[in-house]
Amino acid sequence: MDTDQDRHRQLVAALSLSTGNNSPMRIRLADPERDSARAAEIYRPAVVGSTISFEEVAPDADEMAARMRTVLTRTPWLVAVADDGLPIGYAYASEHRSRAGYRWSVDITVYVDPAGHGRGVGRALYGELLPILRRQCFVNAYAGIGLPNAASVALHESIGMTRIGVYQRVGWKLGRWVDVAWYGMRLSEGSAAGPPPEPIPFPQLGDESDISAE
Ligand SMILES: CC(C)(COP(=O)(O)OP(=O)(O)OC[C@H]1O[C@@H](n2cnc3c(N)ncnc32)[C@H](O)[C@@H]1OP(=O)(O)O)[C@@H](O)C(=O)NCCC(=O)NCCS
Repeated sequence: MDTDQDRHRQLVAALSLSTGNNSPMRIRLADPERDSARAAEIYRPAVVGSTISFEEVAPDADEMAARMRTVLTRTPWLVAVADDGLPIGYAYASEHRSRAGYRWSVDITVYVDPAGHGRGVGRALYGELLPILRRQCFVNAYAGIGLPNAASVALHESIGMTRIGVYQRVGWKLGRWVDVAWYGMRLSEGSAAGPPPEPIPFPQLGDESDISAE
């Protein structure tokens, strides 16, 4: 059986092959059966020993699969896959708030395996996610970032998000108060007069969505 170190080495090797200039890295739709264990593994370091996520217990594969299924009823959940078929990161959109008037607004989030940071994986995932959200007729995307998180701030600014403000001391984790910076961007202008078109649930995008689970 592979040790964690072996697994890490294999991953770094796969990544160096897959995210270079001739990148064979692929982005596809998440499959809860196939991808939940790996997504849980990628997410875990953000929960354990980090203030990136305000969760205190890392979800297991079953919980991650349930979250994927819920998200996919309305919005995309994408995974970036190295050329050995191993998911190396994921990104998804979810509802911003549940009350009806918020339904044109989504939150977006992204997690990349620590072995693959800084290789364009996050950027590539958002590069696929945002056009789908526009096709779905969402109007606004937001992201909340627990501070400090230079990489996440850089990524969200690099896709055109601007800082709206900071919720100061909004969370307590690992023995300290944590600020959360909220970022936002307009996905489409909607319509100045009259109501915007209703968002199309992700499963109803059909062939218009060129991202498939394969
Ligand atoms: C944040 C995260 C998703 C970024 O993904 P990534 O694949 O490492 O980022 P990319 O390589 O696509 O880089 C995107 C941009 O951010 C910049 N960037 C990446 N890491 C950076 C760092 N540590 N410091 C400063 N800038 C950084 C890149 O230069 C690039 O900028 P550009 O598009 O203007 O050239 C990744 O670091 C991660 O998974 N972190 C842990 C989980 C997390 O924080 N998720 C976000 C929750 S809010």
